[in-house]
Amino acid sequence: MAENTMLDLRNIHKSFFIGTPNEFEVLHGLNFTVNKGEFVSIVGQSGSGKSTLMNIIGALDRPTAGEYSLDGIDIEKAKDHELSALRNKKIGFVFQTYNLIARTTALKNVELPMMYAGMGRQERMERAKMLLEQVEMTDRMMHKPDELSGGQKQRVAIARAMANDPAIILADEPTGALDSATGRLIMDIFHKLHEEQGKTIVLITHSPELSRETQRIITLKDGSIVGESAGSWTGLNAKEGE
Ligand SMILES: Nc1ncnc2c1ncn2[C@@H]1O[C@H](COP(=O)(O)OP(=O)(O)OP(=O)(O)O)[C@@H](O)[C@H]1O
Ligand SMILES: [Mg+2]
Repeated sequence: MAENTMLDLRNIHKSFFIGTPNEFEVLHGLNFTVNKGEFVSIVGQSGSGKSTLMNIIGALDRPTAGEYSLDGIDIEKAKDHELSALRNKKIGFVFQTYNLIARTTALKNVELPMMYAGMGRQERMERAKMLLEQVEMTDRMMHKPDELSGGQKQRVAIARAMANDPAIILADEPTGALDSATGRLIMDIFHKLHEEQGKTIVLITHSPELSRETQRIITLKDGSIVGESAGSWTGLNAKEGE
């Protein structure tokens, strides 16, 4: 595997048991790689298998067959408790529905992944403040999620995703619940993280328009990859031949 490979998926299948003896295959042997520092989108219609694939990439679920490595780590060989540590350290998740902890402040939400990683109180608070500043949420950091707008919640969620300086940000329809102007702000934050911090980002979306903003578009249809194309993004990290 090349040194600059972040994700390497080979012949990934995923089936669900929908009552014995019926098995329903959702992903039919996917192959692709994502390089370090790439901003890639996975686009497809509802039901095409995007979230199923995101769960596999995010090590939230295991493929039924195939090989998958993330940042050089063989995922199918890792034990469950190793996977949760790996998720916390290596992956920053951003979901359509934010998935913030309701009862606690924005600041604490961002601190939590660092707490799980064993970072000291003072250090994690300072880092959480810095991350909230990056998404321009300093003035709202003592608010609880239900005191924030959708776009503000998503900015907190992105700060939380960045908490442990993940190898990769995985975003599943991050603008899906937002109006287009607010969605634009969220996309701009992803571009900033990509360009200024060199983050590897996988954006999952049903929107061809959003996918075109990324460097590379992987099109999923009925659980198979039916196309790969270059997006229109060109910028600091643009590589020749892409
Ligand atoms: N746990 C499960 N058990 C059985 N079938 C499932 C399960 N999870 C997903 N599926 C099926 O897998 C297919 C793909 O679902 P998935 O959620 O990955 O689609 P998606 O592309 O994310 O769609 P959307 O854009 O609506 O979020 C669907 O037919 C769905 O019903
Ligand atoms: Mg989905």
